[in-house]
Amino acid sequence: MAVRLFEGKKQAAAYLQYRLAPHELTSRIMSFMEKKTPKQFNLAVDVGCGSGQGTTLLAPYFTKVVGTDVSPTQLEMALVRGFPANVSYKQCPAEELPFTSGEVDLVTAMTAAHWFDHQRFLQEADRVLRPGGCLALLSYTMDMELEYGDVSNTLNDICKEFYAALLPFRNPYIGSISLKIYSDMFASCSYPDKEWNECLCVKRTLPLSGYIGMVETFSSYQALQQQDPAEAERLSNDIRNKLLSTMKVSSPDTEVTVIVKYFYWLARKP
Ligand SMILES: C[S@@+](CC[C@H](N)C(=O)[O-])C[C@H]1O[C@@H](n2cnc3c(N)ncnc32)[C@H](O)[C@@H]1O
Repeated sequence: MAVRLFEGKKQAAAYLQYRLAPHELTSRIMSFMEKKTPKQFNLAVDVGCGSGQGTTLLAPYFTKVVGTDVSPTQLEMALVRGFPANVSYKQCPAEELPFTSGEVDLVTAMTAAHWFDHQRFLQEADRVLRPGGCLALLSYTMDMELEYGDVSNTLNDICKEFYAALLPFRNPYIGSISLKIYSDMFASCSYPDKEWNECLCVKRTLPLSGYIGMVETFSSYQALQQQDPAEAERLSNDIRNKLLSTMKVSSPDTEVTVIVKYFYWLARKP
């Protein structure tokens, strides 16, 4: 059973504004693909594409890239973002992809596969992939870190407080650690040529408000906001004020370095 969240307009707009485009990860995916096959590929499908931040990164490497998502609201935001001419979007569940068997060179799911019906999605990816085609699943851990001058450790204690407050609101379908879902999916993938990568740190310089905005896109924050909007706002403001006071600045536009810890796995269909 898959879970349908991410349907609200405000949430989809926040995705568009705050979610990262992980180009470091797409380079890793392409190196894995190019190890065994020619450098020009036909079709990539980015499943659970949201507002398309990862989808568009694939455009330079493929004749055609299709982002798919079950949420029409997310796909509307992907259209708002704008995209290269070889990218298009389709609404469909991850477990029923509108492609013929063996048609696809690359199937990706970026911070999305934990929401799918895991086994049905793996079977569907296997169906649409051509022999030699690749599957790439990636996500990141909740514990993003901040760097700022000599107060990084104190900032990270405050960030941990933020994550701990959100932990009880994680959806039971994904449990407390999504890494476990990915390692189980990796273990159940029968392709012999596969690799698991547990930590790729991606660093971005963002305004502090961008970091807070990113945490507010987490499904756990969204769940808290639905249950108790006043408490969600109080928590977010409290964390922001503590971070600002530690940094000894008053503007949430002040830039910090955000470190996002990705994990991912890659597999090639025999
Ligand atoms: C956390 S967002 C990730 C979006 C984007 N890939 C990114 O990297 O930011 C997860 C996305 O998966 C979609 N999703 C969840 N379950 C799905 C399913 N069963 N089939 C297709 N899309 C699904 C949601 O609508 C949402 O847009």
